[in-house]
Amino acid sequence: MKVGIIGSGGREHALCVSLEKSEIIEKIYCVPGNAGTNQIAENVNIDISDFKKLTSFVKEKKIEIVLVGPEKPLVDGIVDHLENENVKVFGPNKFASQLEGSKIFTKKICKKYEIPTAKFEIYNDKEKAHSFFKNCNFPVVVKADGLAAGKGVYICEKEDQAKQAVNEIFGGKFGVSKEVLIEEFLDGEEMSFFIISDGVSFKEFGTAQDHKRVFEGDKGKNTGGMGAYSPSRLESNDLNKKIINKIINPTLKALREKNEKFKGFLYAGLMIVNNEPFLIEYNVRMGDPECQTIMPKLKSDFGKIISACVNDKLDTIDIEWHNDKSICIVLCSKGYPDTYENSIEIQNLGKIKLRDNEYIYHAGTTLKNKKIFSNGGRVLNFVNKSKNFKESRDQIIKLINEINWQNGFFRKDIGYKVID
Ligand code: AMP
Ligand code: GLY
Repeated sequence: MKVGIIGSGGREHALCVSLEKSEIIEKIYCVPGNAGTNQIAENVNIDISDFKKLTSFVKEKKIEIVLVGPEKPLVDGIVDHLENENVKVFGPNKFASQLEGSKIFTKKICKKYEIPTAKFEIYNDKEKAHSFFKNCNFPVVVKADGLAAGKGVYICEKEDQAKQAVNEIFGGKFGVSKEVLIEEFLDGEEMSFFIISDGVSFKEFGTAQDHKRVFEGDKGKNTGGMGAYSPSRLESNDLNKKIINKIINPTLKALREKNEKFKGFLYAGLMIVNNEPFLIEYNVRMGDPECQTIMPKLKSDFGKIISACVNDKLDTIDIEWHNDKSICIVLCSKGYPDTYENSIEIQNLGKIKLRDNEYIYHAGTTLKNKKIFSNGGRVLNFVNKSKNFKESRDQIIKLINEINWQNGFFRKDIGYKVID
């Protein structure tokens, strides 16, 4: 079978590596891919927002299943577009993608189906939003409704900060905003919880903990993610059951009652307060770098899982996992998440011999004249799985030091909550 992957990050390279091992997959195309996917798949340089061109390519090459990695094309309706042309796609349609595309859409579902989440108000008027801050508890969380590449969330300690956040959102900083979301601040520990669904049934797909801030000790600006580990230290049978019963099931029921369904990966961003889960946000895709730390633990054939999903047969498949701990550390370009230089050669990459439990997933890389160059802020993902988080992290740091890329930096403290 031929499959296509949409995207070019570490997440997509990790998905590509897992698909490449599948018994039922003979050829993978990555659109546009990176220097890593290029080693095992055919990279195709098509603009991923050009759905028409993408569809023609998929039909011409007789690609049987398309997997969509990032949120933007999902929220823009790539799945509806391809399915209208009878292409099978692993990913949610435009309606279901509102779970990530509109925080207010999700909050309204939470209210109707009594899903635990931070208390909230929605305002379509700047002055009314401002007056809310006169009597509220601080900190308060102010959010833009739509996709904002992780930037549309303000945690405000004081009234003037909160008012400024509202002004920036209504001022168009994150695109046209008619409404703003104001939320109670939840004090707990975050956890990423994943499921995979064919639209009829679903199965758990692991847990992880991301590290968003750029510097060690969770300091500095927010990034796409500097590293992750899996499983989350909070995971337990009891907590997983609560998450499924109180959050996942009611959400899927809400979609069903609208005659809609969710097909693909659903990522619940949770705050755990006293062993009770609260939904912070949904993402309608795998996390990045959570995907990179979860996929190496998958024992079952990923191609068969995806094929079952697009054929509404997920219930016929058992998903098996290695009982390991895994850590991913992201090597970034110096200066990220602000300005950084691109096109710096990563010389030693070819010399590295990976062991069975080690993985390097490319993100911002590109190939020129058989040499690998940086091409983004997050450049390479180093993953190690073992029985012990500390052992995994030590091995990764050794590997990054072997590469000794002068333009790179990374956080040495990924997993500090699970490593003494
Ligand atoms: P979001 O994009 O909604 O996930 O928000 C980004 C980050 O802001 C989350 O990962 C949390 O760290 C934080 N955050 C969002 N909402 C809340 C909340 N209600 N209480 C505490 N922290 C929050
Ligand atoms: N790692 C966070 C995300 O993928 O949204």
